[in-house]
Parts: sequence; C-alpha cells; structure tokens
Amino acid sequence: MKADHRGMHGIWASRWTFILAAVGSAVGLGNIWKFPYITGEYGGGAFVLVYLICVLAVGIPVMMAEILLGRKARMSPVHTMERLTTQYKAPKLFAGIGWMGAVSGFFILSFYSVIAGWILYYVYKMATGFFTGAEGALAEATFGGLLANPLRLTVLHTLFMLLVGVVIARGIHRGLENTLRLLMPVLFVMLLVLLGYSLTTPGFEQGWDFLFRFEPEKLTTEAVIVALGHSFFTLSLGMGAIMAYGAYMPAGQPLGQTVLIVGFVDTLVALVAGLVIFPIVFTHGLEPGAGPGLMFQTLPVALGALPGGVVIGTVFFVLVLIAAWSSAISIAEPAVAWAVEKGFSRARATVFVCSLAWALGLGTVFSFNDWSQNQAFVTVTELNEAGDAVGSEFYLYAAVDDLKKAKEVTGGTYEIKGKTLFDIFDFLTTNILLPLGGVLIALFTGWFMSRSSVEDEARLASQHLFAVWRFMIRFVSPAAILLVLYNGLF
Ligand code: TRP
Repeated sequence: MKADHRGMHGIWASRWTFILAAVGSAVGLGNIWKFPYITGEYGGGAFVLVYLICVLAVGIPVMMAEILLGRKARMSPVHTMERLTTQYKAPKLFAGIGWMGAVSGFFILSFYSVIAGWILYYVYKMATGFFTGAEGALAEATFGGLLANPLRLTVLHTLFMLLVGVVIARGIHRGLENTLRLLMPVLFVMLLVLLGYSLTTPGFEQGWDFLFRFEPEKLTTEAVIVALGHSFFTLSLGMGAIMAYGAYMPAGQPLGQTVLIVGFVDTLVALVAGLVIFPIVFTHGLEPGAGPGLMFQTLPVALGALPGGVVIGTVFFVLVLIAAWSSAISIAEPAVAWAVEKGFSRARATVFVCSLAWALGLGTVFSFNDWSQNQAFVTVTELNEAGDAVGSEFYLYAAVDDLKKAKEVTGGTYEIKGKTLFDIFDFLTTNILLPLGGVLIALFTGWFMSRSSVEDEARLASQHLFAVWRFMIRFVSPAAILLVLYNGLF
C-alpha cells in the first residue's frame, strides 16, 4: 500500500455533486421496490413509523459519521478504517469495518443486480404495450412466469451487471454526474404523475391508512429488525458506500445540511412510492403481503390503465432502472477503490468485483425457481380452526415441498415459513451486517476519535448541534442498534 492515496480517485466538483451522487446511491430499488413490499409484509403503519424513527435516530447520525471518516482518510473504506484505527489507537476490531463492508457489498450487489434485471424485463414489456388494459391476474402470471425461468433471469442479471461495470470502469465522474443531474428530478416528477393517478383510485384512502395508521399489535421483533436494517439499506449505510463517496468530497464543506438533504429526499421517495403502490394494490384486490413481486404486479396494472400508459410506463421503468444503476455503482465502488489502491487498473478491478458479484447472484436467480423449495430456518406452525397457533416445529434446513406433503398426510392446518438463499443473503447483509457496521462506525467516531478532530471535520452550523449529534452517535444510535439486534437474534 502506498503511503498516501490522497486524490488518487479524484474529488467531486462541489458539495452539490456529492449530494447528487449520494442521492443517486440512496434512491434506488430500496425505495421503490423494497420499501413497499416489506411494509406490506410487516403490516403497514407500525412498520413505517419504526422505519422513520430509525432513519432519524440512527440513519442520519451514522451517515454523517461515515462521510466524515471517508473524508478524513480519503481512501477506500478498507484502507480508511485501517489507517484511522492506527491513527486513533483504537482496537484492531474497528479496522474490520471496511472488510465486513466489502463482504456485505458483494452479497448486496449480487441480489440487487438480479432484481434490477427484472426492471429491464419490465421496460421491454411496457414499451411493447403488453400491459395495456391488463388485469391484476395477468400481471401476476407474467411475474410468476419470469421468476420460473432461470435462464431469462440470468441473462437479465448479466445485462445489468454489464451496465454497472461499464460506468464503474470509467470512473464515476464523467458518466454518472451528468446523467443523474438530469434524471433524478425526472424520476421525481414521474412518481408524482403516478401519485396523481393513485389519488383518483378508489383504494387511495385504504392505501393511505395502511401506510400511516399505527397498529402497535402488528409490531413483531422481526419487523423492528427489518425496519432498522432497511433504514441502513435505503440510505446506503453500514458497508462503506457513503464512506467511499465521502472520501471524494471537497474538504472544509459543512456536513449537516448535506446529510439532511440526502436523508429527506430518500425518505420522501419511499413514502411517495408507497402511496402509489398501496392504493393500486387495494383497488385491484391484490395482496399487500405479496413479497418481492409487489411492485411488479401493481404498477403494470396501473400504468396499463392510464391513457398514454405505454409511454409513461416505459419512461417510469427506465427511470427506476437508472435509480437502480446509480445505486449499484455505489455498492461496487468501495471494493473497486480498494483494488485500485492495491495497484490494479480500474478496469481490472471492475472485472474482478463484478464477476464475483455476478457469480454470487446466481444463488438469487435459483432461489426463485429450481431451489425455491430448499429453505433454511423453517418454522412449521400448526393452526387450530380459529387460526391460532397451537404448536410449532423448527428445522434448520428443510425441503419445503416434502414437508408440505408430509403434513398433508397427518392432516390439520399448517403455516410453513422459511428462507430461500435470496432471503438469507438479504437478511444476513441488510438486517445484520449493515446495522453491525453502523454500530462500529458510531462507536469509533464517538469514542475513539478525538472530539476536536471530529468537530473540525464535521463543521456543523452550531456547537449545540454538534453536541446533539455527538450524543446520538455515542449513546443513542449504538444502544438502539444493539438492543434491536440482541432482541432479534436471541
Ligand atoms: N440505497 C440503495 C437503495 O435503496 C441501495 C444501496 C446503494 C445500498 N448502496 C448501498 C445498500 C450500500 C446498502 C449498502 O436501493
């Protein structure tokens, strides 16, 4: 490793470019695809409230810490954390933040690319007018058909990974900045157009209620872990993506406002996406708990019903694709920057990172078809006639179809729930590794860096604000994360 990598990867043109890149990273499939579907699975309003609390109490403070760390050392997260750990004489454990982030990044990129491949398919379906006047049933069947076809999924996944590779290999300045400056506002306008449509549907009130009515009885510990994990995922925190972008941020710029803008825009996009999707779900009698397919079964129906739906629909999915693209680039950036610091050319580094993530992605591809019955952490709950649980069994691994058959022989009603490989990749990274990365980042910044050097780097508008943030990062954020993780896992 060379002694100093300052400027090796370049510096953003201004604070606004950083904001653009960070918003590009944050706003992605997490907002438009994932937020609505997990909100649906975990019961709506109660989940949304916990998510909002997590963004404020944990996400925003941790984001500031991440940018600050990156800018302080100006290297890839792995080297940033190695250097700062030595500089501040912190336990070696903290140097692991960068490595853990790199591992999480590979797994996240692997499934992110498979899902983004679905978007590619929907761009095509929209453009050819396939969904014009379509009913919910057709949308469901189309999505089911896509998932059942591993070859098609692999081709789409490959195409998306190539798109990511092309931009990453050229460095993030030229391609990304200009595209995002133009497209992020358009994405926002498109969402508003769809919101306008969803306002006119009879299901709007029900959709609104579902999102914002707080029903505490629906809160489970798993829902709280998922909400916390999602606040990290959606803000691109906990694995070094924002740290890497922070490393390219001009020195001396204040951080407070920057972080608030990114957090606000990201949250707004997610809420608007929810307000677009749920009214359509209820209007067309679809299932809010449909899982990962939710958006792919609702939006085509809505878009197919709009006059000019072919154009609006195509533009919309292209924009979601771009949002996913700019996010995927930021997931790959820490590993690529690390390899470049190790002496690889940017092109080689890209090939290495993207191929590895691509190969891991095949696990997600098969999770939806050939391997869908092979599940881990399977619980079988026996239900009585009133639908109450009367007994349960747990299997570390089970072939779920065989289990179902066996239960049919014994009779009775059972609910079988397990995790496919995709579910495991997702849960392990998003809900465990990202929050864990967040705790370590908060503790390192709050307890091991000197107060004065942190204050100097953050440049918050007032001393008072700084004191509040430091209190959050030292006590509130780590305690909240640890409490949630501990309760969830044990
Ligand atoms: N935030 C992005 C989204 O919501 C995904 C993403 C980009 C991400 N970079 C990340 C998730 C880093 C976790 C870690 O779609």
